[in-house]
Amino acid sequence: MSKPIIVINGPNLNLLGTREPHIYGTTSLKDVEKMCLERAAKRGHKLEFHQSNREYEIIDWIHGAIQKNSAIVINPAAFTHTSVAIHDALKNFKGPIIELHISHTHQREEWRQLSYVSMVATGLIMGLGVNGYPLAVEAAIDAVESRAKAAKS
Ligand code: DQA
Repeated sequence: MSKPIIVINGPNLNLLGTREPHIYGTTSLKDVEKMCLERAAKRGHKLEFHQSNREYEIIDWIHGAIQKNSAIVINPAAFTHTSVAIHDALKNFKGPIIELHISHTHQREEWRQLSYVSMVATGLIMGLGVNGYPLAVEAAIDAVESRAKAAKS
């Protein structure tokens, strides 16, 4: 059994369901967590799910993932566009990194076009609403399994 996938959510995502529902929808983060856990279990993988409004906590989870997790799925929220520290932390993680956004940030304000995380992410899912979460989990698992296969052959 490989190490668990870690899903990390940044600031304000604790308000999912009531926060700007015309942009982010009406599903709560608790329900998103359930969707991710179910998808990972279906594929025979464990998953841990976190949210924080504090940049240092997100960095600590990324550092922890170096030893403890097979892949990172991350919605850095507003830190996407500002955090050199999260970018630098992710550079130390050798497994797959899937960046995820609920909204299509390229169709929003100009200052949302820059992502410090895209520069180090393996792949990116955006604009599909919360349905992007289970897709990101699938993508992370596919990448973990194909890397494991490649390492064996
Ligand atoms: C977001 C997009 C960010 O620009 C924004 O600051 C968020 C959420 C998304 O999931 O669409 O908080 O990451």
